[in-house]
Amino acid sequence: MRFYDRAFAAGYDYVLGRSERAGLADIRRDLLSQATGRTVELGAGTGLNLEHYPQAVTELVLTEPDRHMARQARAKAGSRAEVIEAPGEDLPFEDASADTIVFTMILCTAPDPDAVLREAHRVLKPGGRVLFFEHVRSEDPRLARWQDRLRGPWELFGNGCRCNQATAEFFESSPLQVESIERGRIPRAMPLVRPLLRGTASKPVA
Ligand SMILES: C[S@@+](CC[C@H](N)C(=O)[O-])C[C@H]1O[C@@H](n2cnc3c(N)ncnc32)[C@H](O)[C@@H]1O
Repeated sequence: MRFYDRAFAAGYDYVLGRSERAGLADIRRDLLSQATGRTVELGAGTGLNLEHYPQAVTELVLTEPDRHMARQARAKAGSRAEVIEAPGEDLPFEDASADTIVFTMILCTAPDPDAVLREAHRVLKPGGRVLFFEHVRSEDPRLARWQDRLRGPWELFGNGCRCNQATAEFFESSPLQVESIERGRIPRAMPLVRPLLRGTASKPVA
């Protein structure tokens, strides 16, 4: 459920700025240094990952379902990337057409995270990789209880974001093979959305 798309998009970079400067931008750069070849990003938002893609990326396509977010991503991308309005659950790409799929902090908002991972698997070439980080349900039971209690109000504030989602479980039941998964923190984020899950997964070569 989404509530205020235009204002959310307008304030997004400002709200994230503190975390980006405190280390989130480094987390993005570190993750994206592994991207190669034809790279497709899902839920690219305002395009905060754009500046971190390495030269090994030969073609970059950003997808984003929200038109206000997509407009900002287009402005940042210029001629470096195409921006297509599409949800992660229904990607307008051929099977086995991408070397790398990237998403950062989208499975908390996408209505059907299972379907997003299935689409990522479909669009990846065999041996292709998914690079991701997500804010997730805390492993600390006290914080997880607060995430449960405040999920409703947070969903309003975060324009549909589910702060208590146990996202690792979606990877376990997906057709992707998890290569690495690591827990951490989003620097200077509010406690409800501080717990971080980052990693890589691949589409097995049949
Ligand atoms: C918290 S923002 C993250 C934006 C960006 N990936 C980043 O790292 O800054 C969540 C994004 O997920 C997008 N989103 C919502 N539903 C989605 C879906 N079904 N598939 C893909 N992205 C979706 C939202 O429009 C928004 O841009």
